[in-house]
Amino acid sequence: MIRAEDVASLRKMTLGWRKAGQGIGFVPTMGALHDGHLSLIAAAKRDCDRVIVSIFVNPMQFNNPEDLAKYPRTEGRDSDLLRKAGVDLLFLPTPAVVYPAGFSSVVSVTGLSAELEGAHRPGHFDGMATVVSKLFLMTGADRAYFGEKDWQQLQIVRRMVTDLNIPIQIVGCPTFRDPDGLAMSSRNLRLSPADRQRAPVLPAAMARAAAAIAAGASVHEVLDKAQAEVLAGGFDSIDYIALHGAEDLRAMSTLDRPARLLAAVWIAGIRLIDNIAVDPA
Ligand code: PAJ
Repeated sequence: MIRAEDVASLRKMTLGWRKAGQGIGFVPTMGALHDGHLSLIAAAKRDCDRVIVSIFVNPMQFNNPEDLAKYPRTEGRDSDLLRKAGVDLLFLPTPAVVYPAGFSSVVSVTGLSAELEGAHRPGHFDGMATVVSKLFLMTGADRAYFGEKDWQQLQIVRRMVTDLNIPIQIVGCPTFRDPDGLAMSSRNLRLSPADRQRAPVLPAAMARAAAAIAAGASVHEVLDKAQAEVLAGGFDSIDYIALHGAEDLRAMSTLDRPARLLAAVWIAGIRLIDNIAVDPA
């Protein structure tokens, strides 16, 4: 596995691959890798001749400095996992490579970024869209792999590449879960054993709510019940548990098109997010 820390050495490699007619897959990450990340890499390996993974803890997408400081950094372990997964190139830019002195541009996907995570984490999606567009242009990849775990992020990235004519295909991959249903996340490692045991109440309540809505129950009543179940199950507070259009991400009060049930909840100072599909019969 090759390591590149600047754009010139990254491009030297990709130019050679491109000349040889090889297709390039790309998986952007912030490191602290788990099986969810590895499932995206496996999908990229299946589809592409070469796979690039980036690890960059992007300061521009953290609205809270404490969250940025606390973000787990496990580079040695990550690098071993990526080598074993058969990744061709690990791109590890420094903040100065991504945001050189004088950097002044912002990519902002309006509309889709406004609600849900956008409402609770001001500036987060501008920071995400800016770094993802830069990484696409740096790598020149043919396909990029994103998890459905971050459903709103995936929709924003799809909109961005369409709007900006970025020649890359976006591939969405299913959320990878622990056997008890909890969606894998680097934040799960920060849960105490007792909180980790309680946490699957979230995906369980969401699955029940999604089934009830799909079966025709009142959206409002089902969401109220799901919130009560999550709080009774040990979560401290709820940013949202809501039903939104799967692609337009607009709030829905009746199931009149394919939807997504999305949640962001707090347990012992740790914020977990999840989402599942809700399709009309
Ligand atoms: P990060 O949180 O490291 O996630 C990297 C990718 O892994 C994202 O596409 C995310 O949706 C996916 N992922 C995380 N947990 C997953 C799971 N349990 N199952 C499937 N996929 C999962 O998302 C980011 O980093 C950043 O915003 C980034 C896109 C790298 C831009 O900085």
